Amino acid sequence: MEYIKIRGGKPLEGELNIQGAKNSALPILAATLVCDGKSEIHNCPNITDVDAAINILKQLGCTVENKSNVVSVCTDNANCKEIPDNLMREMRSSIVFLGAIISRCGSAVLSFPGGCELGPRPIDIHLSSLRKIGVKIEESGGKLLCFTENGLKGCEIDLPIPSVGATENILLASVKAKGKTIIRNAAREPEIVDLSNFLISAGAKIFGAGESTIVIEGVKNLKAPIHRVIPDRIVTATYMCCTAVTKGETLLKDIYPEHLNSIIPLFLETGCDINITNNNLHIKAPKILKPIKLTRTGFYPGFPTDAGPTIIAMTCFAKGTSVFVETIFENRYKYAGELTRMGANIRVEGRVAVVEGNTEISGAKVEAWDLRGGAALVVAGLGCSGETTISGLNHIYRGYDDIVGSIKSLSGDISLQSM
Ligand code: EPZ
Repeated sequence: MEYIKIRGGKPLEGELNIQGAKNSALPILAATLVCDGKSEIHNCPNITDVDAAINILKQLGCTVENKSNVVSVCTDNANCKEIPDNLMREMRSSIVFLGAIISRCGSAVLSFPGGCELGPRPIDIHLSSLRKIGVKIEESGGKLLCFTENGLKGCEIDLPIPSVGATENILLASVKAKGKTIIRNAAREPEIVDLSNFLISAGAKIFGAGESTIVIEGVKNLKAPIHRVIPDRIVTATYMCCTAVTKGETLLKDIYPEHLNSIIPLFLETGCDINITNNNLHIKAPKILKPIKLTRTGFYPGFPTDAGPTIIAMTCFAKGTSVFVETIFENRYKYAGELTRMGANIRVEGRVAVVEGNTEISGAKVEAWDLRGGAALVVAGLGCSGETTISGLNHIYRGYDDIVGSIKSLSGDISLQSM
């Protein structure tokens, strides 16, 4: 079994190109199904969630090639409508394929994606929205049997929660539906805009992506486009945290500054010096990190829940008390127990975490329980003295493209070992 070994305390320095966004690449891979011909997706991160999405596309009859971060998907022979249980379980966000398969085939069979480490991941909003567009959905034996009797028809949908996945599913189901669809209280994440741009370049008529109201006018056909995935804002925040805790100085390249508007102020509060030129972010850590008084996660453009774990790991090294309130997921703090094994002082009360920095954090044997929690352990391992080993790498590989190689390229003392 593989594990990461880190000898902490060494300042990170140098330059790193930020990978493409996982949460953009995944819905865009699903979106290839509503296009005719061969889509080419550039800047696709080399991560296991992308591998899982590719396996699903192949299962559905697509021809897929994946080399040097370019994934091409030809849908000429894509006529299967069922995603088997094992593939659905590999990645819970596979639910976003539902809208695309129904748009293409008029029916779909998927198993319930189930929960994940972050807690139950309900899909009620996905299903109620698709029913409004004309999808009949029967739930039996853990499977979703979906079909349309008279095709998909545009309608007005008011989302109770600006759900990212539900917004994506509605976009994918409505781009070729008859008539107009209006989504109110839509998710505004940059990944929604990127998905919309992919679809628009294929010929879709989508207006207002990135705002709370999105209007889609159904078209007959979409032609497979060439598209470059936006940089990953959560991965950017991760390497900013790695730089901060090691008292380092790095240049993170190919980032979108506007996607970091709710993230950068937290680093400034800790005393980091940040300069942005074009699409590059230069970060220089202070000698002593200051705490972050209060952070509340929220829907975009609020502070992203996915950046919480690594930011919390960073505040373990700050001189003072930092408070975090998690408003999106109910089980986001599983990694806190692993950080306390390293000497961190984190008190979790429900959705609130109180971090008392100032404690001596030292290397330990820890395990990743989820994707972003695993990244938090890497941050802590880099910032503390001594040796840290991290197992459970399958979680980290879901969203980080060559995290060991990236940190090594920034002069971090990190390696991959196997026991
Ligand atoms: C996406 O998940 C991301 N995943 C998550 O990133 C991210 O944390 C989340 O959005 C919030 O930004 C991908 O894009 C693949 P939601 P998603 O639907 O779409 C509730 C990572 O680490 N809800 O916006 O599943 C839900 O329980 C991952 O990269 C319902 O109640 O998130 C949650 O409380 C983790 N019913 C809230 O809405 C539904 O039908 C937001 O969920 C759907 C969601």
